[in-house]
Amino acid sequence: MSLSDFALPFLRCLNPETAHNLTLKALKMGFGPKEFSGDDRILHTRVWDLNFPNPVGLSAGFDKNAEVIDPMLETGLGFVEVGSITPRPQPGNPKPRIFRLPKDGAVINRLGFNNKGIDYAAHNLSRHRNGIVGVNLGKNKDSEDAAEDYAKGTLKLAPYAGYLVINVSSPNTPGLRALQGKDDLIVLVEAVKGARASVCPDRKPPILVKIAPDLTDADVQDIVAVAQTTDVDGLIVSNTTIARPDSLKEQDKAGETGGLSGLPVFGPSTEMLRQVYQLTEGNIPLIGVGGIASGHDAYLKIRAGASLVQLYTALIYHGPSLIPRIKRELAEFLRRDGFASIMEAVGADHREGA
Ligand SMILES: Cc1cc2nc3c(=O)[nH]c(=O)nc-3n(C[C@H](O)[C@H](O)[C@H](O)COP(=O)(O)O)c2cc1C
Repeated sequence: MSLSDFALPFLRCLNPETAHNLTLKALKMGFGPKEFSGDDRILHTRVWDLNFPNPVGLSAGFDKNAEVIDPMLETGLGFVEVGSITPRPQPGNPKPRIFRLPKDGAVINRLGFNNKGIDYAAHNLSRHRNGIVGVNLGKNKDSEDAAEDYAKGTLKLAPYAGYLVINVSSPNTPGLRALQGKDDLIVLVEAVKGARASVCPDRKPPILVKIAPDLTDADVQDIVAVAQTTDVDGLIVSNTTIARPDSLKEQDKAGETGGLSGLPVFGPSTEMLRQVYQLTEGNIPLIGVGGIASGHDAYLKIRAGASLVQLYTALIYHGPSLIPRIKRELAEFLRRDGFASIMEAVGADHREGA
């Protein structure tokens, strides 16, 4: 158990946003746990010509301003995604705007892209050296031209990005999720590709689109069609959900507006991942995210079609010692089922008809 795990019960007494800000401070001061042992060979994986020491990453929202990349990588994560970052700084929605649902292993947030903008993020990213960092882009709430915002983010941040994410799936920016529609999405992807070409003529960071778990089958088919015709490099499945399953135990908090994350999202996001893998016939790498809290959960996402996985909410409840545990368990499941690598296990359910 690390120092940070001892801090968990204390952090849980604080309101979630204060706890998060304290955690960021502690990480910046070097109080984060450090996993020095190298990763098990079976966990090494290669996606988009990038070598990942392991497939377990931090999903967007934890490090919105790219302030704790190295301390988070030192916890043993295989990669970190920063953001969502908007061109101009913005305060986000009024507080309180994060709610814990401990009995459900879940969180509801309506932060609304609170972040310090692309200039501040660029400064932080420019100081970072080792490890893979994804940069998740958003649009300002009051911006009229979404494509221009994503292009601005790309122009400023693509030079530092291992990969770029067009986030069109957060439920807390009015109109954002409508950008998942076919016509809008094509415009966004082309704008980001154009901006990338002008700042990264040689090394092209892959472009990913992050989608919501609340889409209809027809929406998902449209997104996959756009991804294929515009040569999107990857999809992240999924963001938080606006749905409120009847099974939620914390009914008093279920009524809070915002995106629900954590255990209740595992089922729907994994089913959508499976569907996207089928539609893309495994030709576009997918990042599986939503409700991962164990090595088994990560393994199920990989078998359903994820080349990489990410998590956030489970870290709030279990702390950073969860990361080595997930990796250890994942390696055990791979070996148990006779896989020699992550790559062999990606999409295994589809091949075995399981
Ligand atoms: C407090 C909070 C803030 C988040 N902020 C963002 C964000 O800025 N951009 C984004 O793409 N996703 C954001 N997410 C969504 C996560 O990246 C992830 O897709 C989702 O929470 C499901 O994963 P999980 O169940 O492991 O948390 C946020 C999630 C939480 C809980």
